[in-house]
Amino acid sequence: MKHLDTGIATEIVKGLKNPLASLAPKFFYDQKGSVLFNKITGLTEYYPTRTEREILEQNSGAISEAVGECATVIEPGAGGCEKAEHLCRLLRPHRFVGVDISADYLTAGVNRLKKVLPETEARAIAGDITKEITLPSDIPRDRRLIFYPGSSIGNFDPDQAVKLLSQLRKHLDEQGSLLIGVDLVKSVSVLEAAYNDKEGVTAAFNLNILSHVNKLIGANFQLEDWRHVAWFNQAQSRIEMHLEARRENSISWPGGQRAFAKGERIHTENSYKYTPDAFASLLKRAGFDSQTPWTDQKNWYTMVLARPSSMPRRVGRLAC
Ligand SMILES: C[S@@+](CC[C@H](N)C(=O)[O-])C[C@H]1O[C@@H](n2cnc3c(N)ncnc32)[C@H](O)[C@@H]1O
Repeated sequence: MKHLDTGIATEIVKGLKNPLASLAPKFFYDQKGSVLFNKITGLTEYYPTRTEREILEQNSGAISEAVGECATVIEPGAGGCEKAEHLCRLLRPHRFVGVDISADYLTAGVNRLKKVLPETEARAIAGDITKEITLPSDIPRDRRLIFYPGSSIGNFDPDQAVKLLSQLRKHLDEQGSLLIGVDLVKSVSVLEAAYNDKEGVTAAFNLNILSHVNKLIGANFQLEDWRHVAWFNQAQSRIEMHLEARRENSISWPGGQRAFAKGERIHTENSYKYTPDAFASLLKRAGFDSQTPWTDQKNWYTMVLARPSSMPRRVGRLAC
């Protein structure tokens, strides 16, 4: 078992002991989970990454103009910083700050960024974005852009999403903005295929959460006793991912245990899908009134540039 902060152990055990067991999606991301997620982004069925890239490429001039002068790009959940590289090439900020729970993976991504974009000062901050993020005090507040791609916001239910976006907004001043990627409602067959790929990479990614939990709390999950299931919950407008027990099994960890019946499930992820209007309302609730959206031709995905409420833009060059 890894040396662990007791808060994390408490959170995992609470989820496992819940009658409807659950594990937060942030626990997918050890080094192997990060590598598997990166593999998912290249799958034929997984349209979000390539659609988001297409939106960014096809609207690069308009996005760059709408953002204006940008001193610092901050990316919560930056992972391997592939998207950060693309955005930094476009906006040429003075610095990039990546924040991620998967610390080693992020550090490797930031180091790669430093090599390919030496003119951009790049920093890695290991941390959980669902807690308050403290940025180093030498990062100027002036003209920050928070970049939150990948529809990661969909992993939070709408109230949690408002809370997270409100927290992120506190890191912006009147010149700041948020560029966020959001997956839109579309046909159930397209949605469900994206989370049930033929190669089984998403299944491996989902199952890997159990190995990570074994490492984190010293539990004894056997991966072969579980199978990946994912479907679109129409009423909640979300993809749900679960792990289903193939047979009865009893899981133990230092100080506790839980028996699972055959067919019982552990809920591991939600991925909410929005209509453009529903997401615009959510952004407003989080204090982002001014919004400029871009979508792909099929209207499968959107990128929105949002600014904090009642904050007129200042014109002029940036001194930094
Ligand atoms: C879906 S991936 C997106 C990665 C990248 N931003 C992209 O769009 O391809 C989610 C990323 O957020 C990180 N992450 C998930 N939950 C987190 C949390 N609570 N705090 C910090 N990082 C988190 C993961 O480690 C992973 O790198």
